[in-house]
Amino acid sequence: MTDIRVRAAVAADQDAVGWIHRLAFAPMREIYRPGPRAHSATQQTGSIVRLVAEIDGRILATACYERTPDLLELFSFACDPAHQRQGLACALLRHIETIARQASIRRLRAVVVAETGNAAIYERLGFTSVATSPSMIFTSNRFPVIHETVMEKQLEAP
Ligand SMILES: CC(C)(COP(=O)(O)OP(=O)(O)OC[C@H]1O[C@@H](n2cnc3c(N)ncnc32)[C@H](O)[C@@H]1OP(=O)(O)O)[C@@H](O)C(=O)NCCC(=O)NCCS
Repeated sequence: MTDIRVRAAVAADQDAVGWIHRLAFAPMREIYRPGPRAHSATQQTGSIVRLVAEIDGRILATACYERTPDLLELFSFACDPAHQRQGLACALLRHIETIARQASIRRLRAVVVAETGNAAIYERLGFTSVATSPSMIFTSNRFPVIHETVMEKQLEAP
């Protein structure tokens, strides 16, 4: 089995992270794009922690999480299209779940764009859809309105 290493990103990873982001989200840009109110996806500020997943020292996937008092918010999952379906996002999620448990947090949350169909991926990873509403931050050339679905995962006690 391929050895995937997950670690916190450092400043020197910025180019690799930006590149993976552009590659992974290129197909998504046919469906939606950030509007003027969206934050930069590759930005890492304040309480947001960016992770990278690498194989043989090469960064192939990335994700962010932010801790709130009662949950960990996950976002910006992106995997190099040439290395998708190899368990990289799963490895990032497992890492985040470990961090949550260590902080005695039992709830994870992710917001997905409904029109991408990504909710199905999160469901396979154990998340449940909680609510869907029109997006205030994303726009689209294809859809008149873009919707955001809030997905949550309850972690079992260790
Ligand atoms: C979503 C994404 C990060 C998944 O990364 P990944 O490393 O390929 O995911 P994994 O290999 O860990 O897959 C874990 C499980 O998720 C599900 N899954 C992942 N990609 C899927 C797809 N394209 N279609 C259906 N199920 C999928 C499967 O159940 C998979 O397990 P399996 O391969 O054993 O069946 C990747 O497809 C991506 O970068 N997409 C474009 C950017 C994006 O949409 N990000 C999410 C923003 S909310």
